[in-house]
Amino acid sequence: MSVRGVKIVGVGHYAPARVVTNHDLEAWLDTTDDWITTRTGMKRRHWATEQQGTSDLSAAAAEAALAHAGLQAAEIDCFIVATVTPDYDFPATACLVATRLGAVAKPAFDIEIACSGFIYGLTVASSLIRSGIYRRIMLIGAETLSKILDKEDRSTAILFGDGAGAVILEASDENCFLAAELGADGSRPELLYAQGSGWPKPIDHAALDAKVHLIHMSGRETFKLAVTKMVESTDAVLAKANLTKADVTFLVPHQANKRIIDATARYLDLPEDKVIVNIAEYGNTSAASIPMALSETVRAGRIKAGDLIVFVAFGGGLSWGAVAWRWAA
Ligand code: ACO
Repeated sequence: MSVRGVKIVGVGHYAPARVVTNHDLEAWLDTTDDWITTRTGMKRRHWATEQQGTSDLSAAAAEAALAHAGLQAAEIDCFIVATVTPDYDFPATACLVATRLGAVAKPAFDIEIACSGFIYGLTVASSLIRSGIYRRIMLIGAETLSKILDKEDRSTAILFGDGAGAVILEASDENCFLAAELGADGSRPELLYAQGSGWPKPIDHAALDAKVHLIHMSGRETFKLAVTKMVESTDAVLAKANLTKADVTFLVPHQANKRIIDATARYLDLPEDKVIVNIAEYGNTSAASIPMALSETVRAGRIKAGDLIVFVAFGGGLSWGAVAWRWAA
């Protein structure tokens, strides 16, 4: 099999129009704008309407990426959606999105690994291109987490938002994918979970907790693990790529909590201007957060050819990972 290069040729993002501010949340939760801002860095989040599904958000972000790249959907060879809030358990959201965009009979599949979804997806998509299997891939991270939020639980309801980010990857002489570091640990699912339709004891569990299908999280423990794993993943991916912290132009971290991002940046000795943060506007959008942040930064003209970007995430699984990426000319 050939090994060739891969680069990103288009980015796009979309957030639903409905904005929920911290002050809005104060109306029904025992919380304050000050608590949320201080503990999380979040000010607003976007929540989909009842009529909007993850496929709708995905398609909007993908269309923006196609326009940015000057491509048609028919020119994409494969579609991947990273999400934990698919429209259906099956079919995969990627199938719906490809068809919606007008791509006919193209392979399409979902990746379900929570907040690490984009990191895993970028690794898989880059490998499919580098191995010569596909030439162009649409990779989308998209969530409608508001649909699985317990809106009465102040410890989670304030944290999560909806959105989608998309990147188009293309085979190239230049290789931008430098290294990946991925990890997972399924020994403690209770730290962060939402029940799926294959849950083994639905009746017992439903009796214990009628809200088991919604997001449950042990915030404090997750927080500590997030910082540790994001630091370790970044260190490891840089070592794999024979690079150091001083080489990093931008860290694009999963947007779970501003304090997690700040702590990670501190350990890595990265100044604020090297760390991409948009959490105040969107909250935690799980698999969508990194591609949304990337799309905003690229479109703002902040990323230049040759820049070294480290994408890093931690989330449900537990799962974590980082990718080192050299921005193409
Ligand atoms: N408003 C006011 N008070 C609150 C709120 C709120 N919205 N939520 C919790 N509190 C209270 C708690 O009840 C507690 O009160 P007590 O001391 O009287 O018991 C107090 O505030 C402190 O609670 P903590 O949970 O210790 O607060 P913490 O500083 O840890 O912040 C938070 C909580 C924001 C959830 C934080 O722990 C966090 O961000 N955790 C990590 C989240 C994360 O990274 N998730 C992974 C990715 S998500 C995914 O994969 C889907």
